[in-house]
Amino acid sequence: MNVQTEKILPKFTHLLYGGDYNPDQWFDNPEILTRDIELMKKANVNCVSLGIFAWAKLEPKRDEFHLEWLEEIINRLHLEGIYTILATPSGARPRWLANEYIEVLRVDERGKRAHFGGRHNHCISSKKYRERVYKIDAMLAKRFGSHPAVIMWHISNEYEGECHCNICQDAFRGFLKQKYGSIEKLNSAWWTSFWSHDYTDFAEIESPTSIGENSINGLLLDWKRFVTSQTTDFMNNEIVAVKKYAQDIPVTTNMMGLSDVLCYPKLAKKLDIISWDSYPEWHEPGKNIYQGVLESFTHDYMRCLKKQPFILMESTPSTVNWRPVCKIKKPGMHRLSMLNAIGHGSQSAMCFQIRQSLGGAEKFHSAVISHCDSENTRVFKEVSELGKELSLLSEMIYKTYNKADVAIIYDKENKWALDNSCGPRNAGLDYNRECVSYYAYFWKQGINVDVIDSSSEIDGYKLVITPMLYMYHNNIQEKIRKYVDKGGYIISTAFSGYVDENDLCFWGENNKERLSDVYGIWVEEIDALYDGEYNQTCLNGKEYKLDTLCEIVHCTSAKSICDYGKDFYKGKPVVTVNDYGLGKAYHMASNPEQSLINELLAMILKEICIDVVLANTNIPDGIGIVSREDDEKKIIFIGNFSEDEQEIKLDKMKMDDSKKMLYNIDGSTADETISFGPYEMKMLIEK
Ligand code: GLA
Ligand code: ZN
Repeated sequence: MNVQTEKILPKFTHLLYGGDYNPDQWFDNPEILTRDIELMKKANVNCVSLGIFAWAKLEPKRDEFHLEWLEEIINRLHLEGIYTILATPSGARPRWLANEYIEVLRVDERGKRAHFGGRHNHCISSKKYRERVYKIDAMLAKRFGSHPAVIMWHISNEYEGECHCNICQDAFRGFLKQKYGSIEKLNSAWWTSFWSHDYTDFAEIESPTSIGENSINGLLLDWKRFVTSQTTDFMNNEIVAVKKYAQDIPVTTNMMGLSDVLCYPKLAKKLDIISWDSYPEWHEPGKNIYQGVLESFTHDYMRCLKKQPFILMESTPSTVNWRPVCKIKKPGMHRLSMLNAIGHGSQSAMCFQIRQSLGGAEKFHSAVISHCDSENTRVFKEVSELGKELSLLSEMIYKTYNKADVAIIYDKENKWALDNSCGPRNAGLDYNRECVSYYAYFWKQGINVDVIDSSSEIDGYKLVITPMLYMYHNNIQEKIRKYVDKGGYIISTAFSGYVDENDLCFWGENNKERLSDVYGIWVEEIDALYDGEYNQTCLNGKEYKLDTLCEIVHCTSAKSICDYGKDFYKGKPVVTVNDYGLGKAYHMASNPEQSLINELLAMILKEICIDVVLANTNIPDGIGIVSREDDEKKIIFIGNFSEDEQEIKLDKMKMDDSKKMLYNIDGSTADETISFGPYEMKMLIEK
């Protein structure tokens, strides 16, 4: 893969630095713009996102448009070298619109229509709403589509949520009719004979609700699919509007990372560039390192939606205002988290928000310019220093991208199906954590990982891991079979391959739909352990704990690597390996402690040739490593996510290898020992 990064955002080929800016909240103090520009320049801001929730100022009355104020701001900013990411305002609507068309307001799952208020409170199917959105979007595009300062469209804001109104119910029925063709086919795909819930007509179908139908897994899953499809269609209506007048400006929408509301790979197809809003819970006692791993995993998922660098659209310069406890970012944490995002493929380090509002729900959310309105704040200084640093690094970083030999399959529809499944363990099954526990090993070793979903191609990777891939769909079995046959290595884990795309269980002893041929095993039973209850196993002379789930597995052609040490299934395999074609297929039948995952992955990596950036180096816990490269160099980002000082000793061999020297960012040769303060990020260059 060779990514031409300069083509992704053609009008602005530098790292983007800035954030959401809401001058529409400051109409009573228009002189604030001069002050904001002065401070933005001091903070090295080079772009802002404008107009995200500004509909009431853009169209205060039906068909009365006021775009002149926005134009003036875009122009003033542009004169100072600050570019604009222009938003469509559909994330929140003006009061007149809801007054005129009640149907634009959402109906909840119990059938109650929302009153006007909040944001994101709109019906995703209403024609009227789509018409009004199209109109304002097209007005913006006509006016600003060829403005030299406008570099990207920010379509709406964090699409989310569902609507259960009659228009949506009808659209859902249409979606199902198209998918299944006949009610008989739907009944059998959804297994509706269970509890006598057969449908006799599509007209009888209602969206899932806690006061009615919620026991049909196929319905739950298809409803989620419908919401994604309808939201994508809603978004596309906006994209069509802006592209009509501004074909050359790339479109994005700000996503929410691992959020379960939508299946982002589907939205991604309609977008030119992926962007997302990142708000990890830093500084929760004992959890920083996990947050660092989870955050990096999420960046990789976002990057892989289009297999190209992405935009970090929002992050907080210090605290958010919406957690039970809103901690401020400790010194260094903002720089660390932003450079880590860049390391994982971001072309930006954007903030929410430039200036803190004086009122409303977010008045205590941190901002680059706080209520102190001063450049003498810790946060302002940190933001400015980072801005300066990024402006110096931009050229070096911009054209590089992440290459990965390892892929982890993280599949949103699988997550939905797992969440709906009753049994085998209804509390404590944590799909995200399961994926992250495998990812963590690579994170620490500096082995880049692609986080893809099961619709992606897997050819070309050397190792693919499918943690808890309960649902096999998107023809993943055939892809895995071919991949392993040609020499690929794969690892599956407990509770994988149980159901098809309708959430119907596979059956039969050696069912190839479960890849029994590839893994050389069949699973007879699955036991669930209480919190605090463990089984155990022993590998290479070391004992390891197992928790959560224990599958009872039979080997057909696979060999057992280690066995259960307790309970009536003592002696049955925990980890198996099967030679299949030219490759190998591993299965982990339980949920082991992290050190067993590390041990197993280390064993497997000895057999596969994978580039480890700082090979043979002993990396302490809390350090996360990732790299971006181009034809000339590799930039290695090494972050210390712990609050302790840390040290790493570089591999002497690698340093002496004339082909691959390690340099500091200033061009000097790297020392053999690199030390890190708390939350410090350092970068090395390999040439
Ligand atoms: C989200 C939204 C922003 C703002 C921030 C606050 O990401 O997109 O408008 O509300 O949260 O953290
Ligand atoms: Zn609706």
